Amino acid sequence: MPIRSQPFGRTAAGQAVELYTLTNAAGIEARVCTYGGTLVALLLPDRAGARADVLHGFDTLDGYLGPHPYFGALIGRYGNRIARGRFTLDGVNYQLATNNGPNHLHGGPGGFHTALWRAEPADDSLTLSYVSPDGEEGYPGTLQARVTYRLSEAGELRIDYEATTDRPTILNLTNHAYFNLAGDGDILDHELRLDAPHYLPVDETQIPTGELAPVAGTPFDFTTPTAIGARINADDEQLRIASGGYDHCWAFAHGGDLATPVAFVREPRSGRTLELFTTQPGVQFYTANFLDGSIRGKGGRAYQKHSAFCLETQHFPDSPNQPAFPSTVLRPGEVYRHTTIFRFGAE
Ligand code: GLA
Repeated sequence: MPIRSQPFGRTAAGQAVELYTLTNAAGIEARVCTYGGTLVALLLPDRAGARADVLHGFDTLDGYLGPHPYFGALIGRYGNRIARGRFTLDGVNYQLATNNGPNHLHGGPGGFHTALWRAEPADDSLTLSYVSPDGEEGYPGTLQARVTYRLSEAGELRIDYEATTDRPTILNLTNHAYFNLAGDGDILDHELRLDAPHYLPVDETQIPTGELAPVAGTPFDFTTPTAIGARINADDEQLRIASGGYDHCWAFAHGGDLATPVAFVREPRSGRTLELFTTQPGVQFYTANFLDGSIRGKGGRAYQKHSAFCLETQHFPDSPNQPAFPSTVLRPGEVYRHTTIFRFGAE
């Protein structure tokens, strides 16, 4: 089905923002706006065919223009944290903004979530592109980024990321959708399976210690389907550091291929399901621990703690400072390519 578009408003600088709607015959509808390349809404049928919007966000552009915790946005240049905003590449020291305690988070205050992306709609997909100038937010290299959202008849929302640079740089792109498959309430009854035998414990400032810790015997073990809330209040140092919940990176057993799902989420009341596929080695699983009801979103709803979950597919946090982690360096002549697929269903 062809993509529709409508004006979504204007940025503070007066630039026009468009909202694109992708639909499939099964009744799935995804809306993406050019500001932040943001996934604004996702309507999914439940097992009886009733649709609900399963994403946190805002009804109008205004909500996205103000400060918000990255609802649905594209995150770059570096998703997640870099310790003290510092890294060294080819002997050159770089200092990025410290916008999360002592650390750099999600590309800095002017990250890709605030960029106005150029849209090229096609039959079943929307390609967004953005040229990030050399030095933007402190990162080296002119970065040409392209992100394609595609909705298939099989219920797959596929996000393809591609980028090139003209100087050596670092890159870790993701999307920060907040899901609630019931459409309302908390996500504690959602069942999660994560095919990840290890996770990355963090220090008090949420920087990985470097250890890949076995999940076995801990509240981090989701290798068999388990309610997200089953152990979320356990007396556990790592859950405490993350402000009472999950906000950690898991390392997949079989990262890198799109043939096998790496995660599965099922909401028992509606029957809605989400299956995750990715070429990335890890995922930040975040249970919206920092939401406290102070943000009013769609329909005036106050978004509470544990009212959503994020599955931010990515390379590991702080990789530029952790030589043992898979590299996030991108050099001229190379093409950065990653794909994440969310396959939705109802059972
Ligand atoms: C990521 C981080 C969290 C938090 C959210 C946004 O998931 O890991 O700590 O910053 O983004 O609030």
